Amino acid sequence: MKTGYLAPISTGRPSVPLVEEIRRLKEARRAVILAHNYQIPEIQDVADYVGDSLGLSQQAAKTQADVIVFCGVHFMAETAKILSPNKIVVLPDRDAGCSLEQSCPADKLAALQRTNPNFYTIAYINCSAEVKALSDVICTSGNAVKIVRHAPPERDLLFVPDENLGAWVMEQTGRPMTLWKGNCYVHVEWTHAAITRIRNEYPGAPLVAHPECTRAVRMLADEVCSTEKMVGYCKASPAPAFIIATEAGMLHRLRRECPGKTFIPAPTDRCACNECRYMKMNTLEKLHDCLLNLSPRVELSDELIAHGRAPIERMLQLSAMD
Ligand code: 13P
Ligand code: SF4
Repeated sequence: MKTGYLAPISTGRPSVPLVEEIRRLKEARRAVILAHNYQIPEIQDVADYVGDSLGLSQQAAKTQADVIVFCGVHFMAETAKILSPNKIVVLPDRDAGCSLEQSCPADKLAALQRTNPNFYTIAYINCSAEVKALSDVICTSGNAVKIVRHAPPERDLLFVPDENLGAWVMEQTGRPMTLWKGNCYVHVEWTHAAITRIRNEYPGAPLVAHPECTRAVRMLADEVCSTEKMVGYCKASPAPAFIIATEAGMLHRLRRECPGKTFIPAPTDRCACNECRYMKMNTLEKLHDCLLNLSPRVELSDELIAHGRAPIERMLQLSAMD
């Protein structure tokens, strides 16, 4: 798929603070900066839009910018490229992966699909473009329940690659599904014991957990939802303090959107490992460099874009329905 050519831009002003230089380059490139809720605070603060995977893909589908700078992980930037194939899509660090994406190689999925022609494959957006291309519909944590409720009743549902999100969706919908055995290496660190301890310490604070957490943690939660819905829940709740079981970058967004409220990061048992090492690969310096050099770029074949697009568009259509 061809992308436009933009002439190199020299910064020429090395003493200008990095954030100002990023803003100047962004204007010069006619770029939009999209950032996931787990990005470092400095990136969230310079972004045009900060949100969850669903919001980010909606933004990528409708932006008028020439260049999409995707501050998140690789599968998110790939999704943006599939939705806006004629735009240049860059990301600060090409190696920003995801343990869920890695858990589901396309050839293994294809082999499983061959065992049952009646499978209807629902892929969580945290997967490669190749896996998306093999799927019937995509979902995010923000719309997975809705997507499964709309799945054809006569088909056998196969949900990939997050077994925890899949199990939560089964609980919500009552629809049985075959679950791929993948998980998020960050969200499975929270345990029932560690969460129980922090709940005893802050007895009035609701526990808000991401559906990638294990069932043992989800069953303790007052609210299980996507990162974007966490903002809405905490804004609407009269509680002054919340325990948050998701990646640490979320706390910046919550503190910015809910001033005066207290957000307590849920502790893990073994380590302070509530940071996604992939999300944290992106830095302001790398963001600056990718705007300057328009690299690293996401490039996908026309065939992959064509096959990956239909299941993502199906998701966006279903998401827009009441
Ligand atoms: P959200 O879509 O809820 O932001 O989740 C993305 C993600 O990677 C969670 O680990
Ligand atoms: Fe993937 Fe987990 Fe990082 Fe989200 S937090 S991008 S699911 S590894």
